[in-house]
Amino acid sequence: MPDTSTEPPVSNAKIVNTPEEQEDNRRRTRKVLKKFNRKRENLVPVLQQVQDELGYLPREAMLEVAEYLKVPEVDVYGVVTFYNQFRLKPPGKHSIRVCLGTACHMKGGYILLDAWKRRLGVDRGETTADREYDLDTVACVGCCAMAPVNVIDKKAEGRVSPTRVDGILLAFKMEKEKKAKEKPD
Ligand code: FES
Repeated sequence: MPDTSTEPPVSNAKIVNTPEEQEDNRRRTRKVLKKFNRKRENLVPVLQQVQDELGYLPREAMLEVAEYLKVPEVDVYGVVTFYNQFRLKPPGKHSIRVCLGTACHMKGGYILLDAWKRRLGVDRGETTADREYDLDTVACVGCCAMAPVNVIDKKAEGRVSPTRVDGILLAFKMEKEKKAKEKPD
């Protein structure tokens, strides 16, 4: 019987990479760095490609970039936090996006966002500690007639009420349980 409780599914504990994950991130970052000259002006494109490779920019990757480009670490961190295209947290398995364009805003987009925040125990731009879900907002996704809109794993869903949040999470949970049962021991 699936758990339909309204408690947050995970805690919002800090996500810490294991030494193996850190080493893997460093290795993959170095692979990206090989494509670039050691010029400071390459900092933003390098960070973009490292993020494409890893899905986000962990500290160990930023340190590799700083060393390679001979840029102070604090400058790399400054650039990463300045541009909101960069993520400091790993993406979740499922992406939850709440549209806050004008139409969705008027139809309760913020109420929906609050429902997700409470249910997942994370803020916008964050990932749950079990790395199942990441929550963020988007501007208009072009289906204003269906406001308020959620984009779940790149699929838009319209006229979403805050109570739908539990249904979406339950569907993911059931899918996960089904997959686990199908897996041979
Ligand atoms: S404002 Fe949300 S889809 Fe247009």
